Amino acid sequence: MTDPKSTEIQLADYAPFSHLIDGVHLTFHLSPKATRVESRIAFRPNPAAKPVSEMFLHGEGLTTLSSTIDGSPVTLTPADQGVLLSVPEGPFSFEAEVQINPAANTALEGLYMSNGMYCTQCEAEGFRRITWYPDRPDVMATFSVRVEGDLPVLLSNGNPGESGPGWAEWHDPWPKPAYLFALVAGDLVAETDRITTCENRDVTLNIWTRPDDAGKATYAMDALKRSMTWDEQAYGRAYDLDVFNVVAIDDFNMGAMENKGLNIFNASYVLASQQTATDVDYQWIESIIAHEYFHNWTGNRITCRDWFQLCLKEGLTVFRDQQFSADMRSAAVKRIEDVLKLRARQFTEDAGPLAHPVRPESFIEINNFYTATVYEKGAEVIRMLHRLVGADDYKKALDLYFERHDGDAATIEDWLQVFEDSTGRDLTQFKRWYSQAGTPRLTFTDDFKDGIYTATFEQETRPTPGQPNKDPQVIPIAMGLLGPNGAEVAETRILEMTETRQSFTFEGLGARPIPSILRGFSAPVILDRKIDAAERAFLLAHDTDPFNKWEAGRALSRETLMALAADGTAPSAAYLDGLMTVASDASLDPAFRALVLRLPSEDDIAQGLFDAGRTPDPLTIHRAAETLRQTIAEHLKPALPALLAAARVDGPYSPDAKSAGQRSLFLTLLSFAARLDDGASAALVYDEADNMTLKQGGLAILLGIGSGADQLVAFHDEWQNDRLVMDKWLSLQASLSEPEQAAEVVAALTEHPLFDWKNPNRFRALIGSFSGNAAAFHRADGAGYDLLANWLIRLDPVNPQTTARMTTAFQNWRRYDADRQGMMRAALQRILATPNLSGDTSEMVTRLLDG
Ligand code: ARG
Ligand code: ZN
Repeated sequence: MTDPKSTEIQLADYAPFSHLIDGVHLTFHLSPKATRVESRIAFRPNPAAKPVSEMFLHGEGLTTLSSTIDGSPVTLTPADQGVLLSVPEGPFSFEAEVQINPAANTALEGLYMSNGMYCTQCEAEGFRRITWYPDRPDVMATFSVRVEGDLPVLLSNGNPGESGPGWAEWHDPWPKPAYLFALVAGDLVAETDRITTCENRDVTLNIWTRPDDAGKATYAMDALKRSMTWDEQAYGRAYDLDVFNVVAIDDFNMGAMENKGLNIFNASYVLASQQTATDVDYQWIESIIAHEYFHNWTGNRITCRDWFQLCLKEGLTVFRDQQFSADMRSAAVKRIEDVLKLRARQFTEDAGPLAHPVRPESFIEINNFYTATVYEKGAEVIRMLHRLVGADDYKKALDLYFERHDGDAATIEDWLQVFEDSTGRDLTQFKRWYSQAGTPRLTFTDDFKDGIYTATFEQETRPTPGQPNKDPQVIPIAMGLLGPNGAEVAETRILEMTETRQSFTFEGLGARPIPSILRGFSAPVILDRKIDAAERAFLLAHDTDPFNKWEAGRALSRETLMALAADGTAPSAAYLDGLMTVASDASLDPAFRALVLRLPSEDDIAQGLFDAGRTPDPLTIHRAAETLRQTIAEHLKPALPALLAAARVDGPYSPDAKSAGQRSLFLTLLSFAARLDDGASAALVYDEADNMTLKQGGLAILLGIGSGADQLVAFHDEWQNDRLVMDKWLSLQASLSEPEQAAEVVAALTEHPLFDWKNPNRFRALIGSFSGNAAAFHRADGAGYDLLANWLIRLDPVNPQTTARMTTAFQNWRRYDADRQGMMRAALQRILATPNLSGDTSEMVTRLLDG
């Protein structure tokens, strides 16, 4: 292996590659420990680059058996991350044969093995572990692949060619960068279907799984077909090959990967059955299947010029999958869920040492920038554009984008240019959303005189690492007004804020209105608005915008819990009554009611207290949350039996949004009921459940009230042979064990035979869930920090990418008291001092300590 990277790459240094590629031929002779890869690449000088006599090719961990140019041996001279070779002036053919060891590849990048299957992950820079190649997204080529191996199913990108026993050929007619290359070989079975596209192309759809998972891809197939139809209707984009293959893999670093014509998925986002998957699992499958499919146009047909442009494909594709899910399910509920995720993950990132712009300007390891900022904030930026230009102009701009850039490796400049050209708008200031890190804070004041209502906003973005000063951004503020009787007196207007301080007026009002600000969460900002509980309760009762109705309840819960944690202030009657009203309002969507009744996370409360100038104590917050749940339970008590009965879902299980929403309300209500009967009601639900949603939900409720020991054993005995279900078992214990014991519980579970720590799903289920159990992770004696640090140190040499990602559990270290800060810094320093630490992890830890 070559040395870990340590050089920082700059966006400003971009230069095109010296050569273009007319075609790539690859032959794989598969063997677990000694796979041979033959390559033949037709190069020609790139007219847009300066001529060179030496060409650079990436490569990592390759044993070269031979290398020739136009048939004559050529020397590969080692260089940083690859090799240099002397090349002729004109076009030439480069051929090489290398040997690699997939069985030893535990990093799960490049070609590796999972349960006797071969598979690949090449984004971002995995292809260089397969053969010598200019492994950068702006080098696009057509690939022909021959796979030879002693396995029944041999897959690669594109359309199938000839095949015979032990070999198969594939041809991908669409030029692509190497990061979209894929190969899978194994003993697999397919769920098969077909569709005819709106362009009249007959396409075979296969979802491949291990034979023992047969039958569990039915929902994924249904989601795939709906995604394909939706993209034709919403974006006019049809599929462009004769087959579309999806494969479920057990060992996978991420969620899934959009390789051209051959999507590879983490098995947990494909496999589902009533008995093994929860409603939430089904929802994830639907959205990730859609996400990867949508990449076929936004990512594959139009790709990124360089990795700084990652949000070009990811932000847009997340926005597209959010639109899809909103159309498949309740748009209001989907928006709330997306904002919850944005705040939990992206706002946290923006508030700490890892803050970076949606389009970063430098990096050491690109794998460390597959972040909530690039993905989720990247999607919010597009949502704002959509709102500013309107749905019709957005459609025009996207049509122009596909027309102008099909086949290109494009940039954010290209993306914004199509909006400027098709709408005539100047997006110079808007572009700051791509370059400025940090979450803008919006403060609000208002005034009412002579029938004129004036809303004044001020924006401020705090410094982030490397960016001490911030300029004002364009903030679309969707705002409506309610009259004192709760009726809407001014419909939603988009206020386009561009200055640091700006006022907007509403005329012709009879009385002072109650403002509803940032409807639909129209911008990824923090609205800093001090209003009393009565006004929040009013908005919770009357706001016509579903997002802001929820937001009012959310803010009430958050303030109530913060006050309880800070100085024991008891919840107000207005708050408790407001919850009761929502819980009992049968005219509201059950999923929405469940969201209002769900308390903010302990991490969110910690951030809230920190922002208010206090030092959060995780254990106190945990206890306060328990107390509040108990108080709410007692307040809802008289209504609970009837509410639970009404929320119960009758008939056979179906994962559709409506029944899922009803089950979500049922479980939320049950979590309160269980506090009043020592868990008896939850235990009954657990026993009688015919689906995993209620099983897992019932068990989680029991564990949350310190009960459920028998059910844990029963669950284990029932599901010990199903690895994905056992991940739930590990995860529930790690996230719900009492703060004082969780570290010991988790340490004991690491000895459990099912805990295969080299598998990223297992590792995340146990160690990842533990680090999300705030009160346990931040235990005052530092046991939580040590546990995580020890496991990260152990995992790093095996799987740097997953290790680096999980260091983010430490990103809030500055929020806490001096003792905890000291212990977290010490844990990070201990990781950093580990001999041969990977470049991935050392970049992350350094940023965590310095930022
Ligand atoms: N492009 C994939 C997706 O968003 C994720 C690939 C992640 N790869 C990585 N090296 N971090 O669907
Ligand atoms: Zn993606």
